[in-house]
Amino acid sequence: MDIAIVGFGTVGKHLERLSVATGMCPVVYDKALGPRSRSAVNACGASFICVPTNQGSDGRLVLDDVRDVLEWLKTPIVVIRSTLPIGATRALSIEFNRPLVYVPEYIGETPWAPQRPEADFVVLGSPDFVAAREVLRLLQSMLGPEPVYRIVEPEYAELAKLMENSFLALKVTFANEMAGTASAFELDYEAVRELWLLDGRMGRSHTIVTEEGGFAGKCLPKDLHNLICQAEDASYRADLLIEVERSNRRFRSA
Ligand SMILES: NC(=O)c1ccc[n+]([C@@H]2O[C@H](COP(=O)([O-])OP(=O)(O)OC[C@H]3O[C@@H](n4cnc5c(N)ncnc54)[C@H](O)[C@@H]3O)[C@@H](O)[C@H]2O)c1
Repeated sequence: MDIAIVGFGTVGKHLERLSVATGMCPVVYDKALGPRSRSAVNACGASFICVPTNQGSDGRLVLDDVRDVLEWLKTPIVVIRSTLPIGATRALSIEFNRPLVYVPEYIGETPWAPQRPEADFVVLGSPDFVAAREVLRLLQSMLGPEPVYRIVEPEYAELAKLMENSFLALKVTFANEMAGTASAFELDYEAVRELWLLDGRMGRSHTIVTEEGGFAGKCLPKDLHNLICQAEDASYRADLLIEVERSNRRFRSA
């Protein structure tokens, strides 16, 4: 099946590398690349939306670019790889009257982050099981039998993705807190960190304390903040997550 990639940034380029490695020749569309034929995209059997969902002025993820693409996209299968807030896949499926499938992206921005996280697991969230099964078959043709594939209701996929980035933010914040604590005892955090990580249950990722302190980047701050806001909308005050944000401001400005 021919596929199209809409939005050719970090996530779109990663998907292009993956698909080329499996012998595909994807059509690429990005508004920054100038006028390109949308008809070439719409001639494909499936498209993958990889456009930004940045934080809006109210703190929540903004879906304008996703909507902008859905306005003209006509491929039989539409997969969204952009990070979505809870409820968005179902709401957009209703708004655009087509079954969308959310397959959250787990690639990291740093060179040492797993560069092929989908080799281990792929989550497919959709209100339409048939559409999810079609995407499953497509992804299996690209990724093979090894990954664990899970088809779920879209809200589970959305929350699990936001939960992952919020946890990584929490982990960085904890590491920064321990660095401060070690220093109060005139102990070297690096030496303590290595002892801490002798226990494999801790996991080495997100434990380095950088010169800038805390966390930044395109994903962790916005996904964490969105989750805080959405929890608040649902009448739940996520105090721990609020504290992670507050502590991060303290570590970044130290
Ligand atoms: N960067 C990561 O490591 C990462 C990891 C997981 C999830 N995500 C999520 O994936 C999404 C994309 O992230 P990214 O890092 O690839 O963003 P990016 O900024 O690197 O790339 C987005 C691309 O989309 C293009 N674009 C914007 N609006 C468009 C439109 N209306 N039509 C066509 N093209 C458009 C931009 O020109 C840009 O090239 C975001 O929702 C992000 O949260 C990113």
